[in-house]
Amino acid sequence: MPTSSLVRKSARCLMLRLFLSSVGHVRIRQHVNPLSSSFSVPAQVPNWNEVFRDSTLPLMVDIGSGSGRFLIWLAKRIPDSKNYLGFEIRKKLVKRAQLWVKELSLNNIYFMFANATASFEQVLSTYPGPLVLVSILCPDPHFKKRHHKRRVVQKPLVDSILKNLSAGGQVFIQSDVFEVALDMRNQFESHNDMLEHIDVIDPSVICDDQGWLLSNPMGIRTEREIHAESEGAKIYRRLYQKRM
Ligand SMILES: C[S@@+](CC[C@H](N)C(=O)[O-])C[C@H]1O[C@@H](n2cnc3c(N)ncnc32)[C@H](O)[C@@H]1O
Repeated sequence: MPTSSLVRKSARCLMLRLFLSSVGHVRIRQHVNPLSSSFSVPAQVPNWNEVFRDSTLPLMVDIGSGSGRFLIWLAKRIPDSKNYLGFEIRKKLVKRAQLWVKELSLNNIYFMFANATASFEQVLSTYPGPLVLVSILCPDPHFKKRHHKRRVVQKPLVDSILKNLSAGGQVFIQSDVFEVALDMRNQFESHNDMLEHIDVIDPSVICDDQGWLLSNPMGIRTEREIHAESEGAKIYRRLYQKRM
């Protein structure tokens, strides 16, 4: 390629990079391997009184919070009655989400750089208030069979969620990949003694004949959900409630 074309090309790349950084774009790897040794150390427990204005409020946790869009909207919508905690294994996303939290002056939401599988129990067992809702929304699918063990929903995490969830607390799962949704469903429904499947929330949020919710009961969609639905994909959602 002639030198002048190369110069023009790198100038274009630089301008694109400057533009993307100004709108908050972050470059991230497609998937990370949560089993690698760098993610095996549990995250430090936050000082709850520093991260939330009132650390006794009921808590919602979003596992694999990604960009943070979903949780930030919820925290803005319901500012005084709940706290919101995002677990995210990609540091750059956490940094950017925390920046937005600061810009919006929200004091009921916090994003943690943490591998949920390694940190959930240690972190949640110290929260002073009740854990009322856990969501796992469009988790990384890790399609290859030999990589299924990298999926975030594994037995120890499910056990820890059920242990820490307060009676009447809920678990909301969804995926645009049927196989992943089934895997999550099977793991949670193996605890039928503790969890009840909710198939009607109100007349506007109902399930199909397989028990998948036909719309998002939270009223706010995640980034992955928006993308998948815009491509015409179906989202497989389920809601559970811990028995009293
Ligand atoms: C496909 S994205 C979906 C993000 C968001 N929930 C959504 O629906 O738009 C899955 C997210 O889970 C994060 N993740 C994967 N494994 C994780 C783990 N073990 N602990 C915490 N986050 C994890 C990924 O980094 C990624 O941001």
